[in-house]
Amino acid sequence: MTLRSVILGTGSALPRRRVDNAELATMVDTSDEWIVERTGIRTRYVAGEGESTTTLAAEASRHALEMAGLQAADIDLIILATATPDQTFPASATTVQAALGINDCIAFDVAAVCSGFLYAMTVADNMLRGGAGKTALVIGAETFSRILDWEDRTTCVLFGDGAGAAVLRAEETPAEGGRGILASKLHADGRHNGLLHVDGGPSSTGTVGKVRMKGQDVFRHAVVNLAQVMKEVLDVAGLSTSDIDWVVPHQANARILDATARKLGLDPAQVVVTVDRHANTSAASVPLALDTAVRDGRIKQGDLVVLEAMGGGFTWGACVLRY
Ligand code: ACO
Repeated sequence: MTLRSVILGTGSALPRRRVDNAELATMVDTSDEWIVERTGIRTRYVAGEGESTTTLAAEASRHALEMAGLQAADIDLIILATATPDQTFPASATTVQAALGINDCIAFDVAAVCSGFLYAMTVADNMLRGGAGKTALVIGAETFSRILDWEDRTTCVLFGDGAGAAVLRAEETPAEGGRGILASKLHADGRHNGLLHVDGGPSSTGTVGKVRMKGQDVFRHAVVNLAQVMKEVLDVAGLSTSDIDWVVPHQANARILDATARKLGLDPAQVVVTVDRHANTSAASVPLALDTAVRDGRIKQGDLVVLEAMGGGFTWGACVLRY
């Protein structure tokens, strides 16, 4: 038997307001046709009054706990991945902790932008297997709408708000064929900071700043890095692409998803796609897509699932698990 972190439940949350491409075309010089052709995005959700990264995160967490059949008091560790915290400090994870009514557990945020959920899950997995606790709540939550330049058509059409969560529990599982996280691989290369960044921050400008991106450069790096890290993580787990049942990728752009699947020789039907509905929700995109495919019955217990993501930094990573 081997001690592994098993996903017992997933959950997600979206803001009330849905914005389609036609509505965006009334705000900036764009069109439904351009956005769909270049990105596959048709709608996104935008947080309104009373909605924030932590309200969405808490709602997603409640759904994940419910699926797991656990109480908030069972949680030993909360890791929240976000680039859009409610406040510079305290960590948004502690705000979620309070909202869930948990008085004592480990709680902190992780900042790796679109790869944040992969980073948070890998940290949680290592902490659980290292004995820091038995049960972890891992969340990816964002309100990118609040750091978008709504006059910049090259970025504002690409992103949306939302949250996804997973409950992980350390369990002894059979070494062969057992459930849980089998391997993770993370990378970062800070030389590419300038290709995708926010032009502000508490210690530089003293302002929050807006998202800036060199889209074509990001695209090129994304396809190469994602295909590479998926191969790496499968190697570590002693598996090959033919063993994969589902890929749950970061939902940046339908063309990145197609190109990565092609590069790996995967059937596009094995790739979970939600970018059409949610757009790019940064750290929330992987857990939102995972929850979607679990709840609609595609991902079943025992399936081999690969999660992957890349984001600002650049940061990127992949994780292979038996659901
Ligand atoms: N509507 C209409 N026209 C637009 C829009 C828009 N929203 N945005 C840009 N254009 C115009 C440009 O101004 C340009 O016009 P020009 O030729 O007159 O100068 C033309 O469309 C082509 O622009 P490109 O930037 O070359 O378009 P491209 O085909 O590269 O698509 C896109 C842009 C969608 C951003 C693409 O580069 C991409 O998907 N990049 C990946 C980046 C990404 O997804 N980042 C998300 C965060 S990172 C991550 O999550 C991995």
